[in-house]
Amino acid sequence: MTDRPCLFVTRRLPQAVMEFAHSRFRCTSNPQDRPLCKEEIIEGAQGCQALLCLLTDTVDSEVIEALPGLRVISNYAVGFDNIDLDAATRRGIPVCNTPGVLTSATADLTWALILAVSRRIPEADRYVRAGSFQGWDPLLMLGRELSGRALGIVGMGRIGRAVAKRAQGFDMRILYSKRTPLPPEEALPQAEHVSFEALLGESDIVSLHLPYSEQVHHLIDARALQTMKPGAILINTARGALIDEQALVEALKKRELAGAGLDVYEHEPAVHPGLHDLDRVVLAPHIGSATVEAREKMGFMAAENALAVLQGGQAHSIANPQVLDSKT
Ligand code: DGY
Repeated sequence: MTDRPCLFVTRRLPQAVMEFAHSRFRCTSNPQDRPLCKEEIIEGAQGCQALLCLLTDTVDSEVIEALPGLRVISNYAVGFDNIDLDAATRRGIPVCNTPGVLTSATADLTWALILAVSRRIPEADRYVRAGSFQGWDPLLMLGRELSGRALGIVGMGRIGRAVAKRAQGFDMRILYSKRTPLPPEEALPQAEHVSFEALLGESDIVSLHLPYSEQVHHLIDARALQTMKPGAILINTARGALIDEQALVEALKKRELAGAGLDVYEHEPAVHPGLHDLDRVVLAPHIGSATVEAREKMGFMAAENALAVLQGGQAHSIANPQVLDSKT
């Protein structure tokens, strides 16, 4: 079939997704097992109507302007801070993302980090492997219980709500900050809407679940860290640049915080060197959505989004829907 639209996929995706993409598009993809630089994206996607890209791809105005035939950018992620939305909008190109399908996976990982930090699991694992375990000890590796403590969720979208639901099983007090309180149909009975400052001051665990934009760059800076309760834990499965990592390292060194669980970093894949040396920090390599289920669903959604836009149908999610209004 020659009438299928042309799609460039910037990185190998799960097999079933690649098969689907090949069945619906004239599909080419990055054959290498590494992210592409901007020049390589431009070369690969030249002449294509659709670009299926990843959060590791910089799709800025230079890339967008260099692809005159491009009609849709479909990100394999819920976040789209890797894409210059304004540049795409100026060109009338819809930018699609994949919300919903990675909510459970990311909420689970958030809880894995909360538990790992609170109960010192990686430290305990290293201890046993090093042959240091000499038998049960009343004072060995004491952590903190979650029951009765306060969990503060910054950004109460889909993932924040899924994290809050799981907290109910741990008998925790749940606080959240968000510009406006949740509407009644989305509200959770135990979750209390508070200001960002109050959340920082009252939470034993602060977990970040908001999208990144310049307005929230280093939202957790030295001042925010000082506002947090002494002995609190910070969790980030959203975007690295929400935290001033240097300030976090200093707060952890001074023991102002008890620990941190991080899945994301400001300059990925680089990790602030100060974080490596701290025992009470659990570091994961941006695996919030890394389940077989989520990664397949993300792929299908991203491919379907691209197809829907090209066929004049309804995509699952468009970050700049105003471009469609201007076309009708
Ligand atoms: C996203 O989708 O934005 C996550 O960070 C990766 O799945």
